[in-house]
Amino acid sequence: TTMTAIALALSAGAAVASAGCDEGEIVMKFAHVTNSDKHPKGIAASLFAERVNAEMDGTACMEVYPNSTLYDDDQVLEAMLQGDVQFAAPSLSKFEAFTKQFQIFDLPFMFKDIKAVDAFQASETGTAMKDSMVRRGLQGLEFWHNGLKQMSANKPLLLPTDMSGLKIRVQPSDVIVAQMEALGASPQPMAFAEVYGALQTGVVDGQENTWSNIYGQKFYEVQDGTTETNHGVLDYLVVASVDWLESLDPAVKDQVVTILAEVTAERNAAVNQVDAEARQAILDNGGVIVELTDEQRQAWVDAMKPVWDQFADGIGQDNIDAAQSFNT
Ligand code: LMR
Repeated sequence: TTMTAIALALSAGAAVASAGCDEGEIVMKFAHVTNSDKHPKGIAASLFAERVNAEMDGTACMEVYPNSTLYDDDQVLEAMLQGDVQFAAPSLSKFEAFTKQFQIFDLPFMFKDIKAVDAFQASETGTAMKDSMVRRGLQGLEFWHNGLKQMSANKPLLLPTDMSGLKIRVQPSDVIVAQMEALGASPQPMAFAEVYGALQTGVVDGQENTWSNIYGQKFYEVQDGTTETNHGVLDYLVVASVDWLESLDPAVKDQVVTILAEVTAERNAAVNQVDAEARQAILDNGGVIVELTDEQRQAWVDAMKPVWDQFADGIGQDNIDAAQSFNT
């Protein structure tokens, strides 16, 4: 019976590890932290898997683990270096332990819109950033868009002074921490999956995020309202480990990165629509959105932009100038 139990356990384990994959297929796990529907990253990851599973059937198989079900963003890159997960797309704010190059994306009011972000990423400077972590074992493959960030709290936010003294959840980014400090708030780094509970129980008072994340995580349910500040960008880098990519047969690698590039082009082109639909869905579900007058918004710019000075030396004034040139 012991042997039977072991045999059963082994076959059950094997089935779980490769659910939906046929024997002999290369298993590619894609772990991420957001919801799958009505979300730029969720939709893109699902489409990527759908296409790999259709077009590489018999060779490779992709499983997507959304909603932090496999790893949260603090764990996923280490897990990738261990070979436990093959693809992830953390936000650019979550790579600081590996490179400081993405700090430019966190500077408040750096990019006017996602079109400017896209153009900067496609430039020589932006493209080179994909290779910035190679010596640490990570290869950046494609930038995926999400959108501009908004500010929410358990009280109305009209002027930056309204942030004073509030505990605000942030992604683990020195720039975002400095931005919240510039507003007189107390930044609290926290994993994405914990934010709803922390807002609900009052562990934190507020947070910043994109419309699709505020909608997908239902933050609007546990906040007074969301103020349309458009003060920063939240974008992603799809990464894989250098070792794993090199272990692939060149034709297999070529096919999977080609599918990824096509999925990226298709979904990045649709991102403004997904963003707008999430914004509308918040309103349809009773969430409150506060729009600022030009004067009010300028007060947020004046309060947050001095953060640039703290990071300009590290980021490089030339990079900042290059990024700014795309705000046309
Ligand atoms: C966050 O932690 O707020 C975001 O990076 C989550 C995400 O992946 O969009």
